[in-house]
Amino acid sequence: MPSLSSAAVAGLAQLLNDERVDPAVKELLLREYPADTNRDLYRVFVEHSWSVAEASVKLAQQVGADVVFVWEAAWLHDIGIKYTHAPGIFCFGDEPYLRHGIIGRKLCEGVGLKRHGLVCERHVGTGISGHDVEAQGLPLPARDMLCVSLEERVICFADQFFSKSTLGVVPLEEVSRRIRRHGEASWSRFQEMNKEFGNLSFLPESKQA
Ligand SMILES: [Fe+2]
Repeated sequence: MPSLSSAAVAGLAQLLNDERVDPAVKELLLREYPADTNRDLYRVFVEHSWSVAEASVKLAQQVGADVVFVWEAAWLHDIGIKYTHAPGIFCFGDEPYLRHGIIGRKLCEGVGLKRHGLVCERHVGTGISGHDVEAQGLPLPARDMLCVSLEERVICFADQFFSKSTLGVVPLEEVSRRIRRHGEASWSRFQEMNKEFGNLSFLPESKQA
C-alpha cells in the first residue's frame, strides 16, 4: 500500500482553504475522517477521494458540469465507507460494503447536503436499480439508485478508474471486465457513460489507460 501522496495532502488543503466550498462539506469530512484516528483508513480515504475529485473536476470542465459542486461531492462520495465491513481497505464497521452509498447519503443529509447525498447513493457500481436489488438479493432498499444529473454521472464514471485497494488507476479494460461481471444492465449503463464521456483525458496523464 503506497503512502499518502503529497499531492493528495495538497488537494485536501486546497479543498479546506477554498472559500467557494460549502463549510458543511469541510466540517463533515473533518468530523468523519480526522487525521489522528485509523491512519490507514485516513490514507485510503484522502488519496482515493482526492484522485476521484481531481479527475471529476477535469471531466466536469470538459462537459460543462457544475465544477464546484463536483469538487465538493467527489470528496464526499465515499464518506460512508468507514461504517462498512471492508478490512482490506481498513473499514471495520458492521454494515455490508454495498451500503456505503446510502450511509453516505444519510451523513450528507444530516448536515443539509441533500444534493451531495444523492451522489453518494447513486455512485455505487454504475448506479443500482430497484430491479437489481430484488433480482440479486442485494442488502439495499428496493428502489432505483441510478445517476440522474450530469454531475452524478461525472463522479460515478470517474470513480470507476480509481481503486481503493491499490490507490492506483485502473485501466479501461479492467474496469470493463469488472463491470461486465455485475450483469448486463450495469454493463449497458457503463457503456452509455463511456459513450458520453469516452475521452479519458481527465485521468492523470502518466497513468491513462
Ligand atoms: Fe469511490
